[in-house]
Amino acid sequence: MKIAIIGAGNVGKTLGTGLRAKGHTIIYGTRDPAKAEDRSAKTFAEAKTVSGALRGADAVILATPWIATESLVCEFAGELAGKIVIDATNPINPSLTRLAVGFDTSGAELLQSQARKAKFYKAFNSTGVGVMAKPGFPEGKAVMFVSGPGGPDKKTVLRIVADVGFEAIDAGELKAARLLEPLAMLWVQLALNTQGRDFAFVMSCRDAANRNADPRVRMVHPHPQEAE
Ligand SMILES: NC(=O)c1ccc[n+]([C@@H]2O[C@H](COP(=O)([O-])OP(=O)(O)OC[C@H]3O[C@@H](n4cnc5c(N)ncnc54)[C@H](OP(=O)(O)O)[C@@H]3O)[C@@H](O)[C@H]2O)c1
Repeated sequence: MKIAIIGAGNVGKTLGTGLRAKGHTIIYGTRDPAKAEDRSAKTFAEAKTVSGALRGADAVILATPWIATESLVCEFAGELAGKIVIDATNPINPSLTRLAVGFDTSGAELLQSQARKAKFYKAFNSTGVGVMAKPGFPEGKAVMFVSGPGGPDKKTVLRIVADVGFEAIDAGELKAARLLEPLAMLWVQLALNTQGRDFAFVMSCRDAANRNADPRVRMVHPHPQEAE
């Protein structure tokens, strides 16, 4: 797919590198394309103006600071119309201590309200760039929740998330971003205070028949033939 990534910073570059490795075409939309373009052999990706990157893109990832994102979405609402827009931003203040919105709305819903004809999804917001670069952990792939409207476009978003290497989980409609943005705060708080940045949330499931099994206890049969 042709994916426009708006913002070529930590998140934009990391996602772009992962998606290019899966064969997607990445075009960065930036304020200064000459600065953002990276011509090193392995990581080359074209950089254009925001308008230039949006033209012809099948999907868009927003990877800009929250403070810049609302005005950006307002300015380019017309060009975003009809496109899948994956909002990776967090409406977090610069000191990473609190969300600017919450409870009865989310950053993603506010952005959707400013570009009504775009198809907004929330994803990639609830972990750090180190995890985005290498989502594989000993217990499994790092989980990445996706919220937004169901249907073929959501399948596309789930596939993009999986292409980065995440366990992509459908978290429901866009308003579930009200849960995913505080989840990002939890990740940040754990990263800054106790866990460091090299940890991830992993999804683990079991079927109902095994729900009482203690995973720490391995059944040992005193008479091996009983186990057969
Ligand atoms: N860092 C993380 O671990 C992480 C994880 C999940 C989500 N997020 C969220 O992802 C977003 C980006 O974070 P980041 O760490 O990648 O930030 P970053 O490294 O500061 O990068 C932000 C990029 O956005 C660009 N930008 C700013 N205003 C713009 C505009 N009006 N038009 C186009 N580009 C613009 C900046 O370009 P200039 O060089 O021109 O300023 C910069 O390249 C934030 O909302 C953050 O909350 C971050």
